[in-house]
Amino acid sequence: MDNCCAMGTIIQNKALTDSIYELKLTYQQKLDFIPGQFVNLKLDGFYLRRPISVADYDDHTLTLIYKVVGQGTDALSKYQPGQTIDTLMPLGNGFDLSKPIDTLIGGGMGIAPIYGLTKALKDHHPLTVILGFRNKDEIVYLQQFQSLGVKMIITTDDGSYGIQGNVMAGIDTFDHPIQTWAACGPTIMMKSLSQTLNTHGQVSLEARMGCGFGGCMGCSIQTTSNQSKRVCLDGPVFDDKEVLWDSLK
Ligand SMILES: Cc1cc2nc3c(=O)[nH]c(=O)nc-3n(C[C@H](O)[C@H](O)[C@H](O)COP(=O)(O)OP(=O)(O)OC[C@H]3O[C@@H](n4cnc5c(N)ncnc54)[C@H](O)[C@@H]3O)c2cc1C
Ligand code: FES
Repeated sequence: MDNCCAMGTIIQNKALTDSIYELKLTYQQKLDFIPGQFVNLKLDGFYLRRPISVADYDDHTLTLIYKVVGQGTDALSKYQPGQTIDTLMPLGNGFDLSKPIDTLIGGGMGIAPIYGLTKALKDHHPLTVILGFRNKDEIVYLQQFQSLGVKMIITTDDGSYGIQGNVMAGIDTFDHPIQTWAACGPTIMMKSLSQTLNTHGQVSLEARMGCGFGGCMGCSIQTTSNQSKRVCLDGPVFDDKEVLWDSLK
């Protein structure tokens, strides 16, 4: 699917917790995404679009999961079924599905692209999915992941569900080395994974974005090859060993 602006009509904007919502939009054109790609939503009254990962899609329906963290996402949470949202999509380079991946790791809202990736890979490789949340009340999409039939490990920082600790505590329960992995979540989580796991992984990064399609350099990061790369266009998925982690905020 070529990049385009399309009008999506909201069919559902449902609260999953106090602050996390599932948004379903329908489009006239046929949708096609690679897991890890994202869309950029134009919200009424906001100059800059807001980037949100594709969690799931079918021919004409897009599913996003988002957390209210500021004015834009708060405004989004108030949109009602029937309203339309101008959507720039598909954006970015998603996960490389030609590379083997045996372990998928999602932290917080990073579970959104990990859901789409799990769905895409589940019939091709045995997978273990580790999902980390702050506490039991922030757990979302558990049933959806479980229905994919993959091995699941859940961690919560406070131990209110699953294993106590962050996703690294989940990894500590492994009785075999992790060969290949993919992750999305807070930068500190992905940095820890990259520094702990010797094997190559694919990480989906977040950055504050201006344009979302490579024009403003606002999302640039430093890489180990001394080149800067744009999260929106060159990423958001990178090889973990390519990222100069200490340069990220
Ligand atoms: C490629 C990509 C995919 C994303 N996917 C999702 C997703 O699936 N679900 C989801 O809930 N969120 C996702 N985000 C983050 C989301 O874009 C921001 O939370 C949102 O833009 C915040 O808008 P706001 O107006 O509510 O907050 P603002 O008022 O703009 O900011 C509120 C707070 O959030 C922080 N923040 C804002 N934007 C970002 C950002 N891009 N990265 C990191 N911190 C930010 C700010 O520093 C500030 O602390 C994604 C971001 C990127 C770059
Ligand atoms: S957001 Fe403009 S170049 Fe990435």
